[in-house]
Amino acid sequence: MSLTRIHHVALVVADADRALRFYRDLLGLPVAVDRVIEDQGVRGVLLPMPGGDGASACEIEIIQPVRDDTGVAKFLDAQGEGLHHVCLQSTDVAADLRAARDAGLRMIDETPRDGLAGRIGFLHPKSNHGILIEFAQPPAGAPHPPGRPAGPVGPAGLDHLVAAVHDPAAVAARFQQRFGFRETGALRQPALNVESRLLDLGGSVLEFAAPIDSAASDPLTRRLDRGEGLFMVALGVGDVAAAVAHLRAAGVKCTDPAVIDGQPRSFLSPRPAHGVRLQLVGS
Ligand code: CO
Repeated sequence: MSLTRIHHVALVVADADRALRFYRDLLGLPVAVDRVIEDQGVRGVLLPMPGGDGASACEIEIIQPVRDDTGVAKFLDAQGEGLHHVCLQSTDVAADLRAARDAGLRMIDETPRDGLAGRIGFLHPKSNHGILIEFAQPPAGAPHPPGRPAGPVGPAGLDHLVAAVHDPAAVAARFQQRFGFRETGALRQPALNVESRLLDLGGSVLEFAAPIDSAASDPLTRRLDRGEGLFMVALGVGDVAAAVAHLRAAGVKCTDPAVIDGQPRSFLSPRPAHGVRLQLVGS
């Protein structure tokens, strides 16, 4: 595999214009691409973050179905708005799709096609613990992301992406072997009822998390009750307190900033973020 980093994290929404009021206007992310891909029946919007302050460059992709007969429309109908897929950047997407198929993974695309992020292809979530994975090879000379997002939140980039799985150690081993991630640590946080494994791919951090007590009723446990899959996006921001004040003034519910694992953090209610569970991590 020639996978280099997490290129983007995608969410499905009913109305991209409404979602932009949160992601563009409130978080301050710039829009780099906004277009309808007719053959996929979706409108896609890419909002890049340049990376820095310990967070990695990454884009948020907002997808809105524009027809009823697509997989994305069915996803929205069945599950509502929320996280949809993670995209791994590839330097040879045709070869990486072939390698995934040859490794016995269930595929949605066996050969690349055109997508928002370049030449792309999808792997089936059933082979990857409920996580829908896209490979993307951006066009040569793809425009560099614009500067740092504007405003008091201004996320610099992806701090880490969390997936809920039953057995973090086993899934971490599988993702190392399959996709070239490197395990960088294990966490056990009884106060948060979380045990997890951290993986790195080119500076992008993916965390596999499971509840320590699976009889609890916290969001991670409830997510896992619905099955394994993407759970939370943690964004690196310069000043968590300022970001929280700005979001609260706009009516977004956030937890009081608290230092966890040495960094100030706040957790946002998923409703205003269109079903996405967000965490802000201070630098
Ligand atoms: Co995508």
